[in-house]
Amino acid sequence: MSRETLIDLLYLFSATTFIVALKGLGSPKRARTGNIIAAFGMLVAIVATFFKYIDGHALHHVGFILLAMAIGVIIAVPTARFVKMTAMPQLVAIFNGVGGGAAALVSITEFVHIKSTHPATYVTLEVLLGVLIGTVSFAGSAIAFAKLQELMTGRPVTYPGQQVLNAIFGLGALVLIIIILSTGSTVLLWVLLALSFVLGVAFVLPIGGADVPVLISLLNAFTGLAVAASGFTLGSNLLIVAGTLVGASGILLTRMMSKAMGRSLSNVLFSAFGSNITASGDGAREDGRTVRSGSPEDAGVLMNYASRVVIIPGYGLAVAQAQHVVRELAEALEAKGIEVFFAIHPVAGRMPGHMNVLLAEANVPYEQLLELDEANSELQTADVALVVGANDTVNPAAKDDPKSPIYGMPIINADLAENVLFLKRSMRPGFAGIENELLFNPKTMLIFGDAKDTLTKILATVKGA
Ligand code: TAP
Repeated sequence: MSRETLIDLLYLFSATTFIVALKGLGSPKRARTGNIIAAFGMLVAIVATFFKYIDGHALHHVGFILLAMAIGVIIAVPTARFVKMTAMPQLVAIFNGVGGGAAALVSITEFVHIKSTHPATYVTLEVLLGVLIGTVSFAGSAIAFAKLQELMTGRPVTYPGQQVLNAIFGLGALVLIIIILSTGSTVLLWVLLALSFVLGVAFVLPIGGADVPVLISLLNAFTGLAVAASGFTLGSNLLIVAGTLVGASGILLTRMMSKAMGRSLSNVLFSAFGSNITASGDGAREDGRTVRSGSPEDAGVLMNYASRVVIIPGYGLAVAQAQHVVRELAEALEAKGIEVFFAIHPVAGRMPGHMNVLLAEANVPYEQLLELDEANSELQTADVALVVGANDTVNPAAKDDPKSPIYGMPIINADLAENVLFLKRSMRPGFAGIENELLFNPKTMLIFGDAKDTLTKILATVKGA
């Protein structure tokens, strides 16, 4: 077998591992293995690439390449290991932005290289698309990171004529690409780079709040497309396959996330959702209605009499790091013959699969996790719905109030259960910044406090009874 054939086979192997890995990522049970398979495939691809070029003298500055890889590893490994689960979306944003930036740099380098070695050759479309999409992804991800890291306001930033201006930037970039294709002008390449940067920032500014993770998924798809464009530029089939997989899966994930939020993608991207939301914060209401609150002990006693309990986790579970104690509570209830399920909303928390990851970390069996529709049918016969740090995902306004900004989002119908125990620290709203009618439902008992403390006390009552 020739060396070229062997290298092509290794690339084919890597491409296959990426597909197998994506399949693994589709289920929480296999996600970890999926990740390891993809990482192994990537390692094989890197080694094969060195092997391909190293003694054909096509690979220059090997020392610099290894140094850059070492710096990347030194930065990425501790960051990924020590990042808090709640800060994962911004980590994904910044890693993704760097990928887009790298793809844009490959395209720019290729452009400059073509012009300096064969000035009469015209550049091809994919080089310029790589610059445009990669830079938009880089600049957009940087702003998304700043929003999530609270380095700037997380709310939509709007100004008059914003969407028209953004359309002009987008059209301007396309016109520039056409001109560069016919003139090969290097000066205009720098103008395209600057305009792509402005477009990336301007595109992301009006997107805020709960929509930012959806945006990150879309930017991730952009990075995939930019990488695929680099693959065409460099004649690398593997980059084309990997980039296309990232692009396609990113677009699918974006669609699934906006669907789970009950919104169209164009609504997420262009409606500046959340710019005019004013949360009540302290729960004071003009109609003077009050809520019913109780103690963790009351909750424990109520649960002891239940025969079926559905636990509905949300973002507050992650904040309180209450996944282990909630598993202990579930086990204690089951030991008493009480049936326990976890109802998982697809956008509970702050990133796709957030609740699955947390509960898997605490070794909650996958069979106990129910997806939205299944959970809603179980709730009809449940004695207790225990809401742990969820809010928007159980807000009945999504079904009942056409004026609500979350109207149309499928929710977990906690109100179907006979009793609702609602664990939160205050009357503050959830991510969408809107009041939750379920708090005022006569079935609901609020137990104020940090979810981990409250659950520990509930557990003590359940065990003690
Ligand atoms: P949220 O609606 O954000 O509500 C979280 C609740 O947790 C709040 O009511 C908060 O009330 C409570 N909380 C916070 N820390 C707590 C603690 N230490 N102990 C007890 N309670 C605590 O959560 P959700 O129902 O999971 O909804 C997720 C939201 O994020 C949705 O709007 C969704 O659209 C959005 N979103 C999610 C994703 C993904 S992919 N997951 C992506 C984009 C957007 P207190 O402050 O009073 O404690």
